[in-house]
Amino acid sequence: MTKENITTGANITREKMIQLLNEDLAGEYQAIIAYTVYSQVLKGAAYTDIARELEAHAGEELAHAIKIAKQIDYLGGMPCVTPKPVKTSNDPVEMLRADLENERATVGRYRERIRQAEAMGEFALSETLREIIVQEQDHEIDLSAALGINVPHAKTPAHGKNGQSQLKDTHAPRR
Ligand SMILES: [Fe+2]
Ligand SMILES: [Fe+2]
Repeated sequence: MTKENITTGANITREKMIQLLNEDLAGEYQAIIAYTVYSQVLKGAAYTDIARELEAHAGEELAHAIKIAKQIDYLGGMPCVTPKPVKTSNDPVEMLRADLENERATVGRYRERIRQAEAMGEFALSETLREIIVQEQDHEIDLSAALGINVPHAKTPAHGKNGQSQLKDTHAPRR
């Protein structure tokens, strides 16, 4: 496998896909926790509606986690059990911004994952990821509306000038 293959999604190995999906799963756990907590601690009349929406997001993130874990198991991997770190704050705007930032990163990651799954011929995985990404984009829209801003562009996983992946793993380009 070459470095370029990580970027283009061409024929990444099953093991690499399991590793990447486990990172996605850790992100889903992070989202479950953040939405569970934030939906309950967001106070003030201005945040009543979004707090209710965040509660709904928490349930959707759990459904995503189960779907991703199922795909990892199908590929022969072991689903991880550790969430990515969750930011804590007492400031409603900071909480909503943290959620939006995470959703942006998630959408970027799943866009790449869908291309990789397609390239592997894993069409059921691709279909599952497509269902998830539709909801992640809805989450971005809800959060952006609550913050009174336009939906920001998705964060694409960093790639070098030559299209090489800069993901922090063994495939990081040497400079
Ligand atoms: Fe999710
Ligand atoms: Fe989400």
